[in-house]
Amino acid sequence: MSKPPVIAIDGPSGSGKGTLCKLLAQRMGYHLLDSGALYRLVALAAEHHGVSMENERALADIAAHLDVQFLTSADADKVVLEGEDVSLSIRTEAVGMNASRVAGLTLVRRALEARQRAFAEIPGLVADGRDMGTVIFPQACIKIFLTASAEERANRRYKQLKSKGLDASLADILVDIKQRDDRDQNRTVAPLRPAVDAVLLDCTHMSIAEVEHKVMTLIRNRGL
Ligand code: DC
Repeated sequence: MSKPPVIAIDGPSGSGKGTLCKLLAQRMGYHLLDSGALYRLVALAAEHHGVSMENERALADIAAHLDVQFLTSADADKVVLEGEDVSLSIRTEAVGMNASRVAGLTLVRRALEARQRAFAEIPGLVADGRDMGTVIFPQACIKIFLTASAEERANRRYKQLKSKGLDASLADILVDIKQRDDRDQNRTVAPLRPAVDAVLLDCTHMSIAEVEHKVMTLIRNRGL
């Protein structure tokens, strides 16, 4: 039986991957993997259980046994961790920073591999992350590396947090984004970098509609 097609979208924090991937999954009728949410969930579960962000073995154990449900409905998507709705709390900058730390740990990444690959089901998958095209789905039929300047990404993140009613400071977000970029790009395990066969897309001066149009054209040109 042929494997379900995978569209892998990688790139740094705030590049618009999340929004793009949701739109693509809807358009294509595909499943959606938000792999960043998994690292955020590990960080949040560790916090709840009083586990240090340096305790690699304990964090990998949490990652391997994450009790999580991704619920999708017409009006809102929900993430439920150990019975609690954490859709908003996993999106805070503090959790994002801890997620970036746990994401640098080999055992945690390994513990999440099978769970991520299990999302690739018929009719297909849109996978959002940092290592989708390089490590998790090297066989992906389309790989996009979506980026934008750090300033533009900070600006977008700021607006996103505000629209969700969360407290935010633009200057702090820019510092966080630069730190997270540095950590994600320079870690030894699965560093953030484009796959050799990825299409690079700099969307600093593009609207989300323009990005979606460009990527949909690529997808259609590959016969999907
Ligand atoms: O995309 P995000 O901001 O929700 O991701 C949270 C953190 O998880 C981010 O700092 C990088 C890390 N991450 C990763 O290392 N690999 C992935 N596939 C997805 C996210």
